Amino acid sequence: MARIIGGLTTSHVPSIGGAIARGDQETPYWKPFFDAFKPVHSWLAKEKPDVAVVIYNDHGLNFFLDKMPTFAIGAAAKYDNADEGWGIPVLPSFEGDPDLSWHIINDLVDHEFDLTMCQEMLVDHAFTLPVKLMYPDAGDHWPVKVVPVTINSVQHPLPTAARCYKLGQAIGRAVASYPKDLKVVVVGTGGLSHQLDGTRAGFINKEFDLLCMDKILNDPVALTKYSNRQIIEQAGSQGVELMTWIAMRGALQGHVSKVTSTYHVPISNTGGAVMLLANDDQPQAVAAE
Ligand code: DHB
Ligand code: FE
Repeated sequence: MARIIGGLTTSHVPSIGGAIARGDQETPYWKPFFDAFKPVHSWLAKEKPDVAVVIYNDHGLNFFLDKMPTFAIGAAAKYDNADEGWGIPVLPSFEGDPDLSWHIINDLVDHEFDLTMCQEMLVDHAFTLPVKLMYPDAGDHWPVKVVPVTINSVQHPLPTAARCYKLGQAIGRAVASYPKDLKVVVVGTGGLSHQLDGTRAGFINKEFDLLCMDKILNDPVALTKYSNRQIIEQAGSQGVELMTWIAMRGALQGHVSKVTSTYHVPISNTGGAVMLLANDDQPQAVAAE
């Protein structure tokens, strides 16, 4: 059976791509952020996941305001990156796992979680940079297959934190019932606090970010009690990317422990946070409620 072996969350600020292209990893500005991935690299080298389910928010590359699915999932054999206007290098294509994607889609729809299925899907910086941060030396061939999952964080109304947690739980159940022996890592990208526009542009809330990091590990259900308005007040209008962290955490079942966690402000306009959780023991596949 497939097993979820852990969950990784990271900010996905586009300028990370510029820093990588320039080789700025050791500069004082970037070093604390890139150093946060050293324990992640050791863990990945030891655990060797086969597939990464990457939960992120598209910023206008694959979906735009005219057609915006609340939740979408890729079912393609290959996912291309493209220039979305940030001027950062386009990264090599990613190999999908259509069989696992369709298993998740079928299981979710069977359990009344209806998401948009995409047999073609461009992946933006929120997907590509976290995978590059996981595997900086990968070259043209990534060591994991991928399943992209998007959560709308752009066009209101946005899904609630409670709904995103349930999405993660549903993905976790679906993966646990997949018959092939695969090690799966779930990645949630975005956040933490940031606001890129309006009178509060530049807003960062370190206290709330640290609270979220604690709750993601110890009490994720507490985060599902926040309304979107409360999250935007506390974390800024783009801080709703926290939903991807909440969904990632929902997918982890059984005992969860922290492998590493780092918080550093600012990375560009954002509270830069990285966290890796190990899913230590595995429950048997369970039916949806
Ligand atoms: C920034 C952060 C983001 O999450 C994003 O998608 C774009 C820009 C920033 O802090 O600059
Ligand atoms: Fe973003």
